[in-house]
Amino acid sequence: MTISKEQGKDLPLSPVEIRELWEKTGEEKLSLLENWRQLPMMYQMALEELQNKIKLIQSEWKLRQGYNPIEHVKTRIKEPVSILKKMERKGLELSSENLFNNIHDIAGMRIVCAFVKDIYSLVDHLQMREDLQVIEIKDYIAAPKPNGYQSLHVIVAVPLILLEGQRSIKVEIQLRTLAMDFWASMEHILFYKYDKQVPSHVIKELTEAAKAADELDKKMLSLRKEIIALSENSPADA
Ligand code: GTP
Ligand code: MG
Repeated sequence: MTISKEQGKDLPLSPVEIRELWEKTGEEKLSLLENWRQLPMMYQMALEELQNKIKLIQSEWKLRQGYNPIEHVKTRIKEPVSILKKMERKGLELSSENLFNNIHDIAGMRIVCAFVKDIYSLVDHLQMREDLQVIEIKDYIAAPKPNGYQSLHVIVAVPLILLEGQRSIKVEIQLRTLAMDFWASMEHILFYKYDKQVPSHVIKELTEAAKAADELDKKMLSLRKEIIALSENSPADA
């Protein structure tokens, strides 16, 4: 089922798609989908709040350290059909409450940094902020997935002051280097919608490619250290 992008935040599914879903899955899911009309707005607001905080961190960092550690930031709201599938996969009964409490990646932010050490500095900073609550950290940099995937995943709760009162909205932040992002994007492109068994030599080569990306990160970091040392020794040339 495709989701019409134009209909965007107000109505994530078209009436025809809602009808299809109704016929497929029954009335319960339909009413849940109706409730979800409201949800994207809240998650979008949480993403905007978080984006603002990240912008301020970037400005301050640049001012104090002389460089901006963040290459780029992307955000997305999970598509309703993916949310439904995930709830089914996790064996969750379909209710807004279950959705709110158990699906932590409805709002997602990806922060791409030049160097691994910037990722850890950024996470240290997020952990000490009083206007955010870090709920969970999964460090796939220190312990990559078996296929070689590397990133640092952080679930944060972003407080929102709404007309109805204060709510805390969860956002999944994925922090990666440029090399990790290149690998993960390629892996996603290669396997998107591929649902058959992947041949073992392909898995092996992909894992080797992830190691090559890791080597590249280490190489760039050591070059950076060398350049900094050079400029410290001869400040006039730097
Ligand atoms: P979920 O319940 O599916 O979120 O499982 P989880 O919480 O254990 O997920 P995990 O933290 O491992 O990964 C969540 C997200 O990380 C995915 O939606 C992807 O965006 C990304 N991700 C994880 N593993 C891979 C991978 O092998 N390749 C790529 N390209 N992305 C990955
Ligand atoms: Mg997850």
